[in-house]
Amino acid sequence: MTQNELKEAVGRAALQYVPDDCIVGVGTGSTANYFIDALGTMKGRIKGAVSSSEASVKRLMGLGIEVFDLNTIDKLPVYVDGADEINHQLQMIKGGGAALTREKIVSAVAEQFICIADESKYVTVLGKFPVPVEVIPMARSYVAREIVKLGGHPAYREGVITDNGNVILDVHGWQVSEATKLETELNQIVGVVTNGLFARRRADVLLLGTADGVKTYK
Ligand code: A5P
Repeated sequence: MTQNELKEAVGRAALQYVPDDCIVGVGTGSTANYFIDALGTMKGRIKGAVSSSEASVKRLMGLGIEVFDLNTIDKLPVYVDGADEINHQLQMIKGGGAALTREKIVSAVAEQFICIADESKYVTVLGKFPVPVEVIPMARSYVAREIVKLGGHPAYREGVITDNGNVILDVHGWQVSEATKLETELNQIVGVVTNGLFARRRADVLLLGTADGVKTYK
């Protein structure tokens, strides 16, 4: 199977976690796009969606799925999204598509986080994929210097402005053994909006697309 076929399979498999008549939390990226397309087939059975990016809003609306403002809802049973890396504790690196802040907000509200990924994303140690950090533009150099003190090698993602009007530093060189600690340390740097370590809010379920079919990890 190709990588895209694995992504499509996990996107479809995630539908089993979507209860009837609910508002669904929807992530961002190529794997999430397969989920959105699959969600289109059950649009008469859901109320609508809350989205983690303008790109996903557009795709959802294109399929006729109503998109709600997160502030107008009080219950979100499930959030479905991809990951750049996910370890065996279901902690993740996210933000390759620059949507990390809204992804963290929507997933924080959701009762269950369902991660959908192809097998290339499943790792023993997080960090081969650089950790994205969303930063207020005027703090970029300061935050980069503070990250160096933490042992990271930050690279400015040139030409990218997030949906929130901020910039991204991609931090190379970390083998993340204590993801919760590093997530907290990064959050404490003034000027950091969010970082792409999802350890305090890890996934509840991983649907992993493999050559032997979709495997479920909890
Ligand atoms: C978006 O900012 C990311 O967190 C994505 O969820 C992540 O990059 C996975 O994207 P793909 O499904 O395209 O690999």
